[in-house]
Amino acid sequence: MVYHFILLLLSTCTVVSDRAKAPRQPIDPTQHPGTGRSYRPRLRPRSLEDSTEGFPAMVNALEVMQSEFWDPSTSTWSAGIDWTRAVFSTHVSATLSTIAKYQAGAYQSEIATYFDEVVAFYGGENATSLTQQKYDDMLWVILEWLEAIKFVRYYSSVDSSFEGNHYVPEFAHRARVFWDLASQGYNTSLCEGGMLWTNQLAPYKNAITNQLFLTSSVGMYLYFPGDNDTSSSPLNSPDVTSASLLPMKAHDQRYLNAAIMEYQWLSTSNMTNAQGLYVDGFHITNWTSTTSIGTGKCDARDESIYTYNQGVFLSGVRGLWDATGDSTYLTDGYTLVHNVIAATGWGAKTSSAWAGIGSDGILRDFCDVDGSCSQDAQNFKGIFFHHLALFCEPLALDNQQAQDFVFTATAAKAQDHQSKCDGYAAWVRHNAQAAYRTRNQTGVYGGWWDVPSRSRPRQPVGASDYRNKGIPQNRIWRLPSHPVVSQDGMNPVYNGSSIPDPNERGRGRTVETQSGGLGVMRCFVQMEEKV
Ligand SMILES: *[C@@H]1O[C@H](CO)[C@@H](O)[C@H](O)[C@H]1NC(C)=O
Ligand SMILES: *[C@@H]1O[C@H](CO)[C@@H](O)[C@H](O)[C@H]1NC(C)=O
Ligand SMILES: *[C@@H]1O[C@H](CO)[C@@H](O)[C@H](O)[C@H]1NC(C)=O
Ligand SMILES: *[C@@H]1O[C@H](CO)[C@@H](O)[C@H](O)[C@H]1NC(C)=O
Ligand SMILES: *[C@@H]1O[C@H](CO)[C@@H](O)[C@H](O)[C@H]1NC(C)=O
Ligand SMILES: *[C@@H]1O[C@H](CO)[C@@H](O)[C@H](O)[C@H]1NC(C)=O
Ligand SMILES: *[C@@H]1O[C@H](CO)[C@@H](O)[C@H](O)[C@H]1NC(C)=O
Repeated sequence: MVYHFILLLLSTCTVVSDRAKAPRQPIDPTQHPGTGRSYRPRLRPRSLEDSTEGFPAMVNALEVMQSEFWDPSTSTWSAGIDWTRAVFSTHVSATLSTIAKYQAGAYQSEIATYFDEVVAFYGGENATSLTQQKYDDMLWVILEWLEAIKFVRYYSSVDSSFEGNHYVPEFAHRARVFWDLASQGYNTSLCEGGMLWTNQLAPYKNAITNQLFLTSSVGMYLYFPGDNDTSSSPLNSPDVTSASLLPMKAHDQRYLNAAIMEYQWLSTSNMTNAQGLYVDGFHITNWTSTTSIGTGKCDARDESIYTYNQGVFLSGVRGLWDATGDSTYLTDGYTLVHNVIAATGWGAKTSSAWAGIGSDGILRDFCDVDGSCSQDAQNFKGIFFHHLALFCEPLALDNQQAQDFVFTATAAKAQDHQSKCDGYAAWVRHNAQAAYRTRNQTGVYGGWWDVPSRSRPRQPVGASDYRNKGIPQNRIWRLPSHPVVSQDGMNPVYNGSSIPDPNERGRGRTVETQSGGLGVMRCFVQMEEKV
């Protein structure tokens, strides 16, 4: 184990910071409107046949997300909801890290612009509302600000003129306050452990809340820089009257302990189905009230399968490897990724039939196919790919400048991890290509990615020669409210359907489906770019 004990000794626990003497300047969102972009939009490639096209496609997905859906006047994605916005912000920070890693010089102004929007969202985020929501809602906020901190740290190391470190104390404080709140959902009086989804409904111990607690706890151990702000408010008003917390140091063992405790519960909770996929969660048989708890056991399982329930676990076990160097954590991750890929029908006999979590080798939430996805569900697939990308980041090597407290791998171990992840690259590429084909002419991604392979544009009986004669005004091609169909023939057309573009059904293309596109594009870029 190659821990950096010296840093542990240096980060001594000091008593109380004197906030009254030198209150920090709160972040003023109006100073970070993210308007007046000074760069020219980059060209976006027509397809993703060539691996060099992944990077501009990823940047374009970010650019479209911000130009179409970010509202500088309110410093938020106005069409989002609190938890989906926390995920968008996470994707923006993670994408900025990826841009900085491969093309920091060429994209300096984009990085500055979009980071400004992340900073603005610190003010635009409805943190007060989130403190009263379900535990999973709170936990996304932790991942969000840890991702912003990771970006600031990385970019500061490659561009010395970047001044993002100024914001890290605010980001850290919010992450810490939300961890304190959410960790109250861990409850051993039922099911011998595990997080409750919420304490406002009959107990439900579900996959996402538990996976998020795992990932956010180990993330706090690895990336949280400490916090001397003793206010219990998640806002950054220097309000000394709400001072009630103790200063917190970096790499506090409580976070790692929580992550390991959660991992142990989750991995013995019987929460995976016969295909090795995480089901949605557990109710407790015959629970009627806090004094009549029924069996008190997690024994009534909800078998629903969602894509995001297969993702957040991956970054959690990756973090546990980084923190401990115990290979069983990575092995768990490889097993889950393997199960997911298989359950999309990928392989020698790529199947068009529903295979458990997709078809044609393409990830799908069940609701995608008939356009019935809720706002929540439209956000799921991008989350899966974000966490797969985190899982597959190269392991830190002895001879690299490893971050504090990160376990460093031998060359052989790092190579083994790289090989495993290289094995997923063709599948990720296949998914990225499918997602890319769902964009409309503005570049907004659709949510049902395997549309093209299931119903490629077929020439219906009596089809018009639209390439030569223009798009006919009929119910196959047009709807009065959606007059535009893809000019490049990439979007599918249903024979006989009154809706020409399946991704316009239901909620249609939204900031959530765009965030899904961004998530898979970033994963694709990371898989293709060899460092
Ligand atoms: C924050 O959320 C609360 C509760 O949902 C709501 O009443 C309030 O209007 C929201 N604030 C903003 C700025 O949207
Ligand atoms: C907290 O305050 C102590 C004492 O001044 C300092 O050493 C430490 O770096 C501070 N931590 C953070 C995260 O600012
Ligand atoms: C795990 O859950 C399944 C589905 O509810 C159930 O059939 C099985 O008996 C459970 N296994 C254990 C060991 O509890
Ligand atoms: C749940 O309650 C019903 C009705 O009281 C009872 O018949 C059943 O055996 C209980 N189930 C379990 C698993 O305790
Ligand atoms: C665990 O959750 C149940 C259901 O919300 C609640 O009745 C019980 O008091 C909680 N126990 C602890 C120790 O928090
Ligand atoms: C298209 O729809 C028409 C009318 O519903 C039907 O007669 C025809 O067979 C369909 N063509 C194809 C290729 O599915
Ligand atoms: C693409 O979708 C977005 C979101 O639904 C919409 O605002 C935009 O107008 C669409 N673009 C075209 C060309 O239809």
